[in-house]
Amino acid sequence: MHQSSSASSLGPGGLDLTQAFFKPIKSSSQPGPSNRHTKVSVIGVGNVGMAIAQTILTQDLADELALVDAKSDKLQGEMLDLQHAAAFLPRTKIQASVDYNVTAGSDLCIVTAGARQNPGESRLNLLERNLAMYKTIIPPLAKHSPDAILLIVSNPVDVLTYVAWKLSGFPSNRVIGSGTNLDSSRFRFLIADHLDVNAQDVQAYIVGEHGDSSVALWSSISVGGVPVLSFLERQQIVYEKETLEKIHKEVIDGAYQVINLKGYTSWAIGYSVASLARDILRNQRRIHPVSVLAKGFYGIDFGEVFLSLPAQLGRNGVLGVTNVHLTDEEAQKLRDSAKTILEVQSQLGV
Ligand SMILES: NC(=O)c1ccc[n+]([C@@H]2O[C@H](COP(=O)([O-])OP(=O)(O)OC[C@H]3O[C@@H](n4cnc5c(N)ncnc54)[C@H](O)[C@@H]3O)[C@@H](O)[C@H]2O)c1
Repeated sequence: MHQSSSASSLGPGGLDLTQAFFKPIKSSSQPGPSNRHTKVSVIGVGNVGMAIAQTILTQDLADELALVDAKSDKLQGEMLDLQHAAAFLPRTKIQASVDYNVTAGSDLCIVTAGARQNPGESRLNLLERNLAMYKTIIPPLAKHSPDAILLIVSNPVDVLTYVAWKLSGFPSNRVIGSGTNLDSSRFRFLIADHLDVNAQDVQAYIVGEHGDSSVALWSSISVGGVPVLSFLERQQIVYEKETLEKIHKEVIDGAYQVINLKGYTSWAIGYSVASLARDILRNQRRIHPVSVLAKGFYGIDFGEVFLSLPAQLGRNGVLGVTNVHLTDEEAQKLRDSAKTILEVQSQLGV
């Protein structure tokens, strides 16, 4: 498929009409280095990739958006559908191609391409197919955008972030998995709903694996600056451990529930990844629970493993990992989660 774009300067018949429409301003200078041009590439234009792409467009996060997928017709259709919304959106040049040339010079590459699980297929087999797919995706991305930040979304996200790190040869600060950013958003929603407050006033993290062994950091939850568990204790308000565990279980089951009901998840992951894109591209130095190289943090010293920790994000990718106070039980659960991921990873031979 030929690459096409939304910002052509050619009028009907191939005439360049730019000169006819506009008189140039004399002695105008070229844009200076501060006039940054931001390019984002999204690999995989399925439900998740398109939700991310459209949120990035509506939030005006990129000057240029490149889409890549293996399915040429679907890709062309999605590109045209987005381009046709140009009259209602901030101006963004949108391109699409099956060829990775189109991603050249990206600041951020978001990978959502993923194989679908076949009936009766094991998770390991699915992972092996995704590994084979990543071998065709990550090296060309790294070649065309050697300074980019890679943001991995495909599942299992922690292992595939490790795979992307190995295949790209990038420093670990520039390889990030969307991890438990979405799980933490589900967690904040459920706590906010429980307490009838705004989810944006709830600070709460799910860390570890994006999946069944994730860890809820109950000890650090606060609402409007008030630490919730110690507040309840001080007020002698009885709370049941089971209630807390039920909320965490609802977070874990959240994705399965949505997939059972509508077939896939899209909107929440779209907003979740767009928030990461904004904070990286605009150097916001905000803290998100995302999948980072965890070796050396919280006693995880038994292998190179990516899992979610509260990390500060900015234009250079991961700027640091927050020193959150964990109870002994939480720290142990986090290390167990790391071991679960490592076990799967070790079967891959990457
Ligand atoms: N990390 C998270 O929180 C999170 C949340 C939701 C979904 N996901 C994951 O995101 C991935 C995508 O989910 P979806 O619902 O969009 O799936 P989907 O099947 O709708 O889309 C996948 C897309 O990948 C494309 N693709 C397949 N092979 C390719 C290749 N070699 N090169 C380029 N593109 C290729 C397909 O053509 C398809 O368009 C899955 O792995 C899913 O599990 C992660």
